[in-house]
Amino acid sequence: MIIMKQEYLELIKKAKDVLQCNTVTVSVNGKSCQRIIPSRDFYVHQWLWDTAGIAMGQVYIDKEAAFNELLSLTTGQWNNGLIPHIIYNPGETRYYPPADLWQTGRFTRDGVKTSGITDPPLIAIAAAYICERVADEQKKRDFITALLPSLIAYHDHLKRYRDPEDCGLLTIVHPWESGTDDSPRFDSILNRIDVNSIPGDIKASVDLNRKDAMHDNAEERPTRVDYYRYIYLIELFKDLDWDYTKILHETPFAVKSISYNSIWERANVALAALLQAYGNQEQAHRYQQWAEQTQKALKDTWSEEHEQFCDIDVTQGRYERITALTNAIFMPLYAGAVQDHQLDLLLERLSNDHEFFTGYPVPSTAISSRFFDKDRYWRGPTWPITNYFIINGLKRYKTRSQEADQLANYFIQKTIEMIKENGFWEYFDPLDEETESDTKGMGFSSFSWTAAILIQLIYFVSD
Ligand code: DGY
Repeated sequence: MIIMKQEYLELIKKAKDVLQCNTVTVSVNGKSCQRIIPSRDFYVHQWLWDTAGIAMGQVYIDKEAAFNELLSLTTGQWNNGLIPHIIYNPGETRYYPPADLWQTGRFTRDGVKTSGITDPPLIAIAAAYICERVADEQKKRDFITALLPSLIAYHDHLKRYRDPEDCGLLTIVHPWESGTDDSPRFDSILNRIDVNSIPGDIKASVDLNRKDAMHDNAEERPTRVDYYRYIYLIELFKDLDWDYTKILHETPFAVKSISYNSIWERANVALAALLQAYGNQEQAHRYQQWAEQTQKALKDTWSEEHEQFCDIDVTQGRYERITALTNAIFMPLYAGAVQDHQLDLLLERLSNDHEFFTGYPVPSTAISSRFFDKDRYWRGPTWPITNYFIINGLKRYKTRSQEADQLANYFIQKTIEMIKENGFWEYFDPLDEETESDTKGMGFSSFSWTAAILIQLIYFVSD
C-alpha cells in the first residue's frame, strides 16, 4: 500500500478536480460517452497525445475511465489507419481551426470529424503504462483486445506513409505534429514559406477567427505569421486530398523530428510488449525490430560538431541538420539512444545555468539561445509535458550515471513545486526572477495533462 504525504494527498485532490471539471459528455455515433478535454477555454476537443497523457494519470483515479479515454481515440481513426491529432467534439465552437476546415469526414467511419494530421504517437505507450497499473487480468485483456487492431493499423500507417524510405525515422509534415508548434527548431523551414505568397483569404480567416490569442495573452502564443503558415499548410494538404504520398513530396515542411521519433521508438517497444502478452509473437517481433531500427537512426542524428542530437530538415530532398538549442535534444534519452560521452554532454547542458538549468527547469529553449523568449509557448517556457519525458529519459540511465538519477529526482521535485505554487497551467515561466504577475503559470489554466502528470509524478515519488 502506498502511504502518501498529506501535502501530496491535497495536490492529488486538486488534480482530480481539474480532470473532473474538464470531463464532458459527448455523443459519438449515437452513443453517449465521457471524455476529458485538455482545457475548457480553448482546447475543447480530443487531442491524441493529450488524451494518452491524461489516461496515464487517470489510471490512478479510475481505471475504467482510463481505458475508455484511450479507446475513445479510435472513434476518429481513418479507414487508412491514421489516428488524427484532433477528434472534434460535436457542436463546439471555442477552438480554431474548426472541424470543417479540414474536410476529412469522408475518411472516418461514420463521418466523425477530425483533423488531417497526427500527433506524437503516445497511444501504445499509454496502453502499456495503464496495463502495468491494473491488476484485473480479464479487464486488461478486454481492453487490449479492443485497442490492438487500431494500434496496429496506426503504427502500420505511420511506417508506410511517414518512412517510405525505411530509414527508421518518421517524417512530420506540420509543426503541430511535433506537439511543439512554434519551437525555434522549425524557424529555418517555416521562414522559407513566404508570407506574401499566402493567399489573402487564409490570412483574413486567421485574423478573424483565431481564438487562442484573444485573452490578453498574445505574447504567450504563437505569432500571427506562425498561424498564417499553419493554416496555409492545412489548405495545401487539403488540396492534395490528404494523400500522404503526395503530401510528403510537396510539403514545404518535412522534418525527421528527434522528439517525435523518440516517442515512436518507445511506442513500438510498447506495442511489441502488448502483442507479446496478448497477441501474436511474430507481430511483436516486427515492432521490436522497428524500435531497434529507430533507436539506431536516432543515434545517427548526433552531431559531434554541435554536441547535440539534431532534427533533420528533409523538405523536398534536403538532408540538413537543425541545430537550434531546444529541449528536444534530450528526447533521445527517452528512447535509450544515448552513448556514454553524449550522456555526459547532455547532463552538462541540463545542469548549466546558462542553458537549461533555470529556476523552473527545463525550459523549452535554452536561455543562451538568441531565440529564447520566456513567455512565448514553445520558445522558452517550461512544460510539464517535456519535463515528464526528460525525467523518464534520465531515469533510463540511472544505473549508468548517478548524476542522471539525481537530476531526474531534482526535476521531479521542481515540477511538482512549479505546479503546486502556481496552479495547473499549460506551461510556466522558466526563470526565477521577480515579476509583476503573481503566477508563473502561462497559456491556459486548469490544463488536464498538467494535472495528469502531477498525479504520475506524485505516485512515482511515493511508491
Ligand atoms: C494543435 O492543434 O495541436 C495546436 O497546438 C494548436 O492548438
